[in-house]
Amino acid sequence: MTDLVKKYDRPVPRYTSYPTVPYWDNVPDTGEWVDSLNRSFSGPDSPWSLYIHIPFCESLCCFCACNTTISRNHDRYEGQYVDCVLAEWKTYLERVPALGQRVLKNIHLGGGTPTFLSPENLVRLLEPVISAANIDPESFEGSIEVHPNYTSEEHLRELSRLGFNRISIGVQDFNLKVQKLVNRIQPPKVTASTVIAARELGFTSVNFDLIYGLPGQGSAEMEYTIDQTLENMPDRIALYSLAIVPWIKPAQRHFKDEDLPTPKEKRDLYEYAKNRLLGAGYIEIGMDHFALPGDDLLRAMQEGRLHRNFMGYTDQKTDILLGLGVSSISASPDCFHQNQKILSLYEEKARDGEIPTMRGHKLSARDQKIQLQILQLMTGFRTRFLDAEQEETIVSRLDEMIGDDLVRVQDSTLVITGKGKGFLRIVCAAFDEKLAESKPQQNIFSKAI
Ligand SMILES: C[S@@+](CC[C@H](N)C(=O)[O-])C[C@H]1O[C@@H](n2cnc3c(N)ncnc32)[C@H](O)[C@@H]1O
Ligand code: SF4
Repeated sequence: MTDLVKKYDRPVPRYTSYPTVPYWDNVPDTGEWVDSLNRSFSGPDSPWSLYIHIPFCESLCCFCACNTTISRNHDRYEGQYVDCVLAEWKTYLERVPALGQRVLKNIHLGGGTPTFLSPENLVRLLEPVISAANIDPESFEGSIEVHPNYTSEEHLRELSRLGFNRISIGVQDFNLKVQKLVNRIQPPKVTASTVIAARELGFTSVNFDLIYGLPGQGSAEMEYTIDQTLENMPDRIALYSLAIVPWIKPAQRHFKDEDLPTPKEKRDLYEYAKNRLLGAGYIEIGMDHFALPGDDLLRAMQEGRLHRNFMGYTDQKTDILLGLGVSSISASPDCFHQNQKILSLYEEKARDGEIPTMRGHKLSARDQKIQLQILQLMTGFRTRFLDAEQEETIVSRLDEMIGDDLVRVQDSTLVITGKGKGFLRIVCAAFDEKLAESKPQQNIFSKAI
């Protein structure tokens, strides 16, 4: 395995979309994006999903690769941002009336730290959206990402009252030594009390985000992190590989090379954590998720409904995902769209009643076919070739991986072996025609392992 890690540990996309964001070249203008939404809603009565990005955090964890604005000045940001997101929502409702008619299946609040907003401001943001939307309380799912240090019982109580039932808790690592190195001191008891409060208030699904490959993380640290995780028994666990992208996130330059595990040690941390979780009754889903029997994500995998979108794995597939807030990404079946990433620009456009377009991509028929193949690999570890020509090209690209028994080809279908699952992103990259057409001149992706 050591040799394989050395051989295949190269920069590749995470494939939360295809084409991946750096290759979006067929850019829609705002009118085309709105047309795409209206066209997508003109078909059968399909539900839709909403993502709201709240970028604020009180302090910066230096591993973080998310789009954030760091500040303790709540007065400066909270009220103004809520007003802008509500203005953006109003603009969409006017230009895409079906958003108020078709069933809104789920809302996900992500960040940043959504609970940077006070409970009052969260309610002020969510109530108008929920009341204008068509929601079936029986099947609605509301989920939120929280940092326990900044989440009060009042936050959880209000969210539960509004129908939120899933919570994803950022943990990363339970060891003080690692937490100091990444500027995120989070006592285990604070995490545990968030879990208890959420469960008491009716949240039916609790997820932990963990990261392997952090500075200072060795086998003893991972052992303690898994011990503590199992004390809490979250329903789901995301075990992410640390994405190291210092050219995008300069705070990652604070890591000293000698504090980081080597690629082989990093892989061993994952294998250790995985075996402990499997031993404790969790089942592996896709590339980096685990769930207890009975969990919806697991059921989706078993029933062949597992999906992956910009936020990662989900059991909630809808044709339309609308993203509100700075930098949010949206998707329709034939178009991707991203909002302005600079907070002041986003706020200005949203307040002026404009859709705050920054970029996007109109998917060709070929893009859509490859998107589906990559999705099938990511969720089920196999996909059928489109035709003999594609099979020949991809088999030659994956020649070495076939030799190493990481992938096999049978009946015009590519199958990733058990041993090959850790190299999933590399296999997806072989299907990526945009990447093959023009390899990036400089680093833009994190390494695969
Ligand atoms: C928006 S944050 C979660 C909510 C909250 N801000 C927190 O930190 O608890 C989303 C998740 O992305 C993951 N993440 C952030 N930066 C990462 C990186 N460089 N590599 C891998 N995962 C990362 C972390 O696991 C984090 O919990
Ligand atoms: S990990 Fe979470 S709390 Fe830390 S900076 Fe990133 S978004 Fe903010």
